[in-house]
Amino acid sequence: MRRPAVVSLVATVALLGCARASKLGDPVPGLTPAEREQFEQGRVEFERVFTPETGLGPAFNASACAECHDSPIPGGPGEEAERHVSAFRASDLFCDPLAEEGGPVIQAQVTPALQAALGVDSEPVPGEATAVAQRTTPGLFGFGLLDAVPDSEILALADPDDRNGDGVSGRPNRFLDGRIGRFGRKAFVPTLKEFNEGALVIEMGVTGPSQPTEETLGGRPLPEGTDPTPDPEVEQAAVDRLDAFVRLLAPPPRQPLSRAGKRGREVFFTSDCNKCHVPLLRTGDSPVRAIRYRPVAAYTDLLLHDMGQDMADICLGEATPSEFRTEPLMGLGLSEHLKEGEPRFLHDGRAKSIEEAIRMHGGEAARSRDRFLGLSEADHMAMLAFLRSL
Ligand code: HEC
Ligand code: HEC
Repeated sequence: MRRPAVVSLVATVALLGCARASKLGDPVPGLTPAEREQFEQGRVEFERVFTPETGLGPAFNASACAECHDSPIPGGPGEEAERHVSAFRASDLFCDPLAEEGGPVIQAQVTPALQAALGVDSEPVPGEATAVAQRTTPGLFGFGLLDAVPDSEILALADPDDRNGDGVSGRPNRFLDGRIGRFGRKAFVPTLKEFNEGALVIEMGVTGPSQPTEETLGGRPLPEGTDPTPDPEVEQAAVDRLDAFVRLLAPPPRQPLSRAGKRGREVFFTSDCNKCHVPLLRTGDSPVRAIRYRPVAAYTDLLLHDMGQDMADICLGEATPSEFRTEPLMGLGLSEHLKEGEPRFLHDGRAKSIEEAIRMHGGEAARSRDRFLGLSEADHMAMLAFLRSL
């Protein structure tokens, strides 16, 4: 992390120009009527419930995007968790996403046809996997703005060799073809479009023109008759509407800062949280005018950081098992209100509260965590008030 904190402080003051929603679930302000229409129609796609007849499966995790991203409304975080796998070969420092064996995402359900043919009710974990990771469902508000942040902005924050000696050494992940990644907890996927299109087939088994191949079950070819719907199962126009919905969802409305919250913002900086949770990024050019050259207060640098061995699970791309993307903190408070069960924080939901999530920071974040732990009771509460306002 190279940029001095002063710049971030100044940037926070410039927040006024942010493309925030006035109501959760609204699109970014300033859309053209055609974009607005695309957004509304895209919401229908996001909520669309697939059946085996309309393309669901044969292997899948849920039957609608909004079945998982649902709290308190479509596009939000959710209680569903899924399993990801990969294999790390230390000998050649290579991370194998086990694509041929059914990875990296394990499908937890199968259609009745596939169950009848193979006699299994979920995808098995490949024997080659060296780790199995649990992944909770994150919120997606404001992610279209993160997609529009230029690579150069992310690279400018990287400090892989920790040249400034502050103990924090973020680095970008890279996709198989060398492009910089930013989506998913391991920042493996370069663009929002690819993530959305991939989610259709990976989470629901719904093929589209750019992802025409079904997920297999552990890499085995699908038996005859188990996938009766011809591929692609949805047309490109429907995929584009879905993508528009996710892309145009505005960041959650910001809660007004109480006095404690204002103090918390100072403590956030003096505890060096901003070294990874960079308060403000700027978007670059975009075909959508409303997200072009905008500040986005996402509180992330979109870089990977080593969070220590206690956090480690799978590798993905260049990310080692203990490296994770700085989780954006915008909308953090939403995860405190998940309807059923406990609220869940961190990549696998192991932290039951915001405070516990901070306590579990290790590795590059250990110094910053210790500052948090050393705060007075009042400053501790102030920090939490600030984080809940994001
Ligand atoms: C079975 C539950 C489930 C369904 C269904 C699902 N998702 Fe997700 N989604 C997840 C999980 C879990 C992650 C986190 C993956 C990770 O961390 O690598 C995620 C991550 C994402 C991300 C990246 C967010 C980030 O933090 O970078 C996007 C974008 C996304 N989903 C869009 C969609 C779309 C669009 C659909 C429907 C086509 C969909 N999802 C369906 C569970 C689901
Ligand atoms: C070295 C980089 C780094 C520093 C410094 C850092 N964080 Fe994080 N933070 C991360 C990463 C990476 C994650 C995601 C970890 C995961 O998904 O398991 C994260 C996750 C979180 C989460 C959980 C978010 C969620 O939705 O689950 C909270 C809350 C958080 N950080 C707050 C803080 C606070 C407060 C500070 C300062 C005391 C801080 N962080 C310092 C890198 C950092």
